[in-house]
Amino acid sequence: MNLPENLPKAELHLHIEGTLEPELAFALAARNGVDLPFADTHELREAYRFGDLQSFLDLYYALMAVLRTADDFTELADAYLARAAAQGVRHAEVFFDPQAHTARGVPVGTVVEGLARALERAEERHGVTTRLIMCFLRDLPAESAMETLESVRPYLRHITGVGLDSAEVGHPPAKFREVYEAAGAMGLRKVAHAGEEGPPAYVREALDVLGVERVDHGLRAMEDPELVERLVRERVPLTLCPLSNVRLRAVDVLEDHPLRAMMDAGLMVTVNSDDPAYFGGYVGETFHAVREALGLTPDDLRRLARNSFEAAFLDDDEALRAR
Ligand code: ADE
Ligand code: ZN
Repeated sequence: MNLPENLPKAELHLHIEGTLEPELAFALAARNGVDLPFADTHELREAYRFGDLQSFLDLYYALMAVLRTADDFTELADAYLARAAAQGVRHAEVFFDPQAHTARGVPVGTVVEGLARALERAEERHGVTTRLIMCFLRDLPAESAMETLESVRPYLRHITGVGLDSAEVGHPPAKFREVYEAAGAMGLRKVAHAGEEGPPAYVREALDVLGVERVDHGLRAMEDPELVERLVRERVPLTLCPLSNVRLRAVDVLEDHPLRAMMDAGLMVTVNSDDPAYFGGYVGETFHAVREALGLTPDDLRRLARNSFEAAFLDDDEALRAR
C-alpha cells in the first residue's frame, strides 16, 4: 500500500546491533551455544522497559553476545535491509560498534566483512544503497578509539565514516579530538551523537572540535536559541530518533516531542529509528507515529524524506537515483 510513511527515504541513524530482534537473538544463541539470561522471546521483550540511555545500553551490549561469526552479522544486516526496504528506505547509513565486539573476542575483520557482505548486495537484493559508519564507544578511553581506528585500515574500502555513541554524559566530544583528526586524515566522514542526554555544549563541541558534518540526535540543542540559529544558518543535519527519545525517557510522550518545533524553527532534521528492535518501530512505523502524534502533513513528511537524501553521504547523482 502506498502509505505516506512508506515514501522513499534515507535512514541515517541506525545501529545495526539495535536491529537484533528477540527471535534472531534466540536463533543465534542456539547456533552459537550462548546462554541468554531470558527464558524466551516474551521474557526478553518484557525487559524492554528502559529508564534512561544506560539501562538500554546494558541490555543492548549483553545481547550482542550472540553475534559471533561473519555469517551472524550478514544475517542481521540482511534482515534489517529487507525490513527497511519494505518501508520505503532507499538508502541506509548503518552504524556499528566495533569495540563492543572486539572486547568479546570477535575480530574487527569478522564484523566488517560480515556486515559488508550484506550491505554490498543490498542494492541488488533490496533496492537499497548503503554506507557503513563505525562508531567509537565514548565511555571507553580515547586510546581505545584510536586503536580501533588503526585496526580498520585493511577494511577502509567498506567504511565511509566515523561516529561516536554509548553513554554520553561525562564523555564530551572533545575527548576524541585526536581520533577525529586522524579519521579525517584517513578520508573518513564524521558524525557524532550529541545532545541526546548531554547538554547543548556537547553539540557545539561536536561541530567545533570534531568537525562533524551531521549531529546524531541534537535534541537538547533546542535549549539554546543561539545554537539553534547557528544550526539553521549552517544547515547542519540533525538525525532525530523520536521513538528512541520516548523509550529512553528524553521526552515523556511522543506528543511532546520537539520534532515539529524543530521543523518550524527551520532546522534540517531527519527522522530515524536508532535501535528499532528495542524501541518499537522501524523507520516506516516511526514516520507513521510522528504523523499521528504531531499532526504532520503529507508535505511535512515529504520534507523529512527530502532532508534525509540531502543529509546523506551520497553524491548528487546517487541521491537523485535513490529518490
Ligand atoms: N548506541 C546504540 N543506540 C544508542 C543511542 N541511542 N545513544 C547512544 N548510543 C547508542
Ligand atoms: Zn543512536
